Amino acid sequence: MGNNRKLRLLGLGVFAVCMLWSCTKRQAAMTTEIVSDELWKDVDGQLINAHGGGILHYKGRYYWYGECKGDSTYRLERVKSWECWRADAKGVSCYSSADLVHWKFEGIVLPSVPQDSLPDLHPSQIMERPKVLYNEKTGKFVLWLHIDSPDYEKGMAGVAVADKPTGPFVYRGSFKPNGFDCRDQTLFKDTDGRAYHICATDWNETLLVSLLTDDYTGTTGVYKRILVHEKREAPAVFKRKGKYYLLSSGCTGWDPNEASYAVADSLLGTWVAQGNPCSGPNAKKTFYAQSTFVLQLEGEDRYIALFDRWNKKNLIHSTYIWLPVSFEKEKLVITWKKRMML
Ligand code: GAL
Repeated sequence: MGNNRKLRLLGLGVFAVCMLWSCTKRQAAMTTEIVSDELWKDVDGQLINAHGGGILHYKGRYYWYGECKGDSTYRLERVKSWECWRADAKGVSCYSSADLVHWKFEGIVLPSVPQDSLPDLHPSQIMERPKVLYNEKTGKFVLWLHIDSPDYEKGMAGVAVADKPTGPFVYRGSFKPNGFDCRDQTLFKDTDGRAYHICATDWNETLLVSLLTDDYTGTTGVYKRILVHEKREAPAVFKRKGKYYLLSSGCTGWDPNEASYAVADSLLGTWVAQGNPCSGPNAKKTFYAQSTFVLQLEGEDRYIALFDRWNKKNLIHSTYIWLPVSFEKEKLVITWKKRMML
């Protein structure tokens, strides 16, 4: 082989390797893969601290709101009947993303207030399971969360309002929805613009669905007690093909238990329990995790179920488990998958 030919071949080889390298690099940058049960970092390399959270889609971006846990976990010894592991509440954190994988920290949009005379937002109190809706009529973002005393005896819902998805949210105070105690909670906005608050009530015996006022900041007196005495919490609601689905956990504190879901034709209608949708290893323990939200991908018939795998003795290091939801006709199936491609 002449020297020129050899050189040409060598040049071609180098070109091919470069192309392959740049393609792999581009692919890596474009890969949107969710890897469950790892400590997730935001785009600045900081730990994502957004537990018991929910996601709002607004103008092409996803906003993830969650509990911002304090660094250290301690046990509240004065609570004797169950293991009350606590981390100080730092408030409600917000992260934003276009692809659900690369998250930018937008700040603590409803911070706890150490010197607050209002007890609700003191770091010693409970600020859990925040969820946010956008209200088209008022142009405001409305946040609801579970507000409680450190021993979880108070059982209230708190409301805060903002002009932007990234806050700041102005706290409006706490109350009992329709006069009932409230613990784990979520929000759901229906396709007709009406919004609902769903919470565990009667000391976690029953779930309560409350229709919200037009501005989403209060209840209307229209409500329904559902799955009465079923002892469900960690509710997550979504709608598909005209049917409403409610995913929930049992009530065992930070410890995992068996998930269940229910289906209804209307939010204030009759909810029928369907059993455990989880499949795969540890399905009976919800993959050692607890539901918090079900996200419908914008404009698609695709849903992702969000869970927290609580690390009760180190709450800030609890991990996130996000799994695809699939349907066999109307039957809901959530299968364990360490890695999920989007
Ligand atoms: C769970 C609840 C969590 C947290 C925990 C405290 O039942 O789902 O959000 O409140 O109890 O032990």
